[in-house]
Amino acid sequence: MRRKLAAGNWKMNGIGIDLEQLDRLMELHPNPTVDLMICPPATLIHPMAAKTSEHPIHIGGQDCHTNEKGAHTGDISAVMLDDAGARAVILGHSERRADHGETDAVVASKSVAALEIGLTAVICIGETLEERESGKTLDVVGEQLAGSTPDIANGGNTVIAYEPVWAIGTGKIPTLEQIAEVHNFIRAELEKRFGEDGKAFRVLYGGSVKPSNAAEIFAIDNVDGALVGGASLKADDFSGIITAL
Ligand code: G3H
Repeated sequence: MRRKLAAGNWKMNGIGIDLEQLDRLMELHPNPTVDLMICPPATLIHPMAAKTSEHPIHIGGQDCHTNEKGAHTGDISAVMLDDAGARAVILGHSERRADHGETDAVVASKSVAALEIGLTAVICIGETLEERESGKTLDVVGEQLAGSTPDIANGGNTVIAYEPVWAIGTGKIPTLEQIAEVHNFIRAELEKRFGEDGKAFRVLYGGSVKPSNAAEIFAIDNVDGALVGGASLKADDFSGIITAL
């Protein structure tokens, strides 16, 4: 059985004072029955990893470079994330694809770098509103899934996050039927490519998940948890989502 996962993506939010949200989260969930992950900005990875050394929550990065080191000003490598205490990294988030022109091939290379050092890769895919409205959702999601997931991925080291771009930070979510359709499709594609192991990949939903809509989303088959942005910044909100899992 796949263990449920609630992952928080803090994006470019959070400074030292916000570490108190992590303390509060650990206080609210001392012995979580689901897997928990927080991906803060790189500056908070080390302090968060230190704080969580005796708690099962995992700390992750939000991106990594394909190379281990070198002349890449402003970038961070998977080795560095690992060294700072990260256990996972989000890759191919739509904000990275849009702001930094990341292609599926780039995301796949970054995933290889992350997996080779032992980080869990959380690979994000999802359609824009225009793509949804023109009936291309499954084509786009299928192409991104195939192109962004490397051959060395498996159900133990890789998580897929389905995030419709138009649902991110907008308060809009697809219908439950639309979420189910895409998650079933992703599962079928994973099984086609990875065989029996395709059943082991966790597939998260992301995009405007809140405590008030989490339970109905989590009740959908093949939704194994959520990648949460805004509602992961405050421990009490994130806790409401964790409790719904
Ligand atoms: O990575 C998280 C997603 O982009 C969702 O963000 O929960 O603020 O809509 P959101």
